[in-house]
Amino acid sequence: MSKTNDTTRAIFTTRIGAVATAVGSAVGLGNIWRFPFEAGSHGGGAFMACYLVFIIALGIPVICAEFILGRHTRSNEPRAFRTLAPGTPWHLVGYIGILASILILSFYSVVAGWTLEYLTASFSMFTNDMDTADYHTRFGQFISGNWRPVIWTVTFLAINFLILLRGVQKGIERLSNILMPVMFLLLVIFCVNSLLMPKASEGLYFLFHPDFSQITPSVLLGAMGQAFFSLSIGLGCMMTYGSYFSPRTNLLRCASVTAILDTGVAILAGIIIFPAVFSFGISPESGPTLVFEVFPTIFSQLHGGMFWSILFFFLLFLASLTSTISMSEISITYFMEEYRLSRLRATMLTIGIATMLGLLCALSFGPLRHFTVCGMTIFNLFDYLSSNILLPLGGMLISIFAGWIIDKHIISTQLSESPASHPSRWIRPVIFCLRYVAPVGIALIFMNSIGII
Ligand code: PHE
Repeated sequence: MSKTNDTTRAIFTTRIGAVATAVGSAVGLGNIWRFPFEAGSHGGGAFMACYLVFIIALGIPVICAEFILGRHTRSNEPRAFRTLAPGTPWHLVGYIGILASILILSFYSVVAGWTLEYLTASFSMFTNDMDTADYHTRFGQFISGNWRPVIWTVTFLAINFLILLRGVQKGIERLSNILMPVMFLLLVIFCVNSLLMPKASEGLYFLFHPDFSQITPSVLLGAMGQAFFSLSIGLGCMMTYGSYFSPRTNLLRCASVTAILDTGVAILAGIIIFPAVFSFGISPESGPTLVFEVFPTIFSQLHGGMFWSILFFFLLFLASLTSTISMSEISITYFMEEYRLSRLRATMLTIGIATMLGLLCALSFGPLRHFTVCGMTIFNLFDYLSSNILLPLGGMLISIFAGWIIDKHIISTQLSESPASHPSRWIRPVIFCLRYVAPVGIALIFMNSIGII
């Protein structure tokens, strides 16, 4: 990053820097933990087909819209709306983002805490002959406990606090940019291993064969939520990143590369999990615990299981950290700018709220498992509310704003290769998606899921 002369904001000087940070935010537990269990509980292939369509038709246009609004205004979400539409209620969209970011931070930290538990447990977990049932029991005992899930959640949030406070997030992002290719390689190795399993073809069939008769309102809503969650869109994260992009960054290319890499990691995770699920006789519908039962079983069957497990859970922890840093920044910047709080106070407030809510989520599998709202535990409620409702709602409003409210000229200037070159041929399709496809598509899925159509 370097400072420009015309603005006091730091900007990314290289294209790789811009793409790498966007990918750092996007790739995380959403790809490796959430995608497989959502696909597993929503029929596999049917979910996958909808997910891919939503990434292309809704995801890429919304990332572009966030990048455009961010780079044009060089500010965070509420301020971007205030600058472009002063005196209107549009800045309220920013509040959806802040609420969503805090809810996600709360339950995400619980799962990131599970990776820490497994990172440390890796040292002892592969010594005796444990099988799938043992890993299932072990994990069940762990998450239903009163203390360990809470301690790990708090530990993970404390690590975030220290990083955010010391302003070393750039260092962590750089470390993660170096290590993420290692993660990718590791996933490819595990993929090959899974493809050699006895029931690999059953797993692949489940994931890639779309049975369109299985597309129900809940599959559509789930796949849309997963697309938004996985790409970190609808809450202003990508808008903040866009505000740091150099004028020469090609926004459409950056959005597409982010979407392709993010989806690639999710598909790799699916190719690892489902052959193993069928070979080990685990139910694909196990929910949030699925991946934490499958991976240890995979590692226990590999030579040097302890090594693979430590490496994997460490990299997953790091990938989670770059995602939580990006979501925490949304409310920290908001508290600093709106309430003139110091960075220390804004960080304490954000992490403090997330810790309190995170504790409720951490206990949702144990002491609080009978406490449900609309049939969902607090953990599931936070996940459902943020991923399936708030993010698509935010994305819908962002696309309406970019497609209808701001001057079209802003979009074409921002999407041109460079300020001086010909307008890109993709400008019209992107504007079409922002005006019609994304808002109408999201609205139809919402109406469909509440039974209106
Ligand atoms: N996209 C991240 C993941 O897949 C999660 C995330 C959601 C990050 C929203 C930031 C904002 O893990």
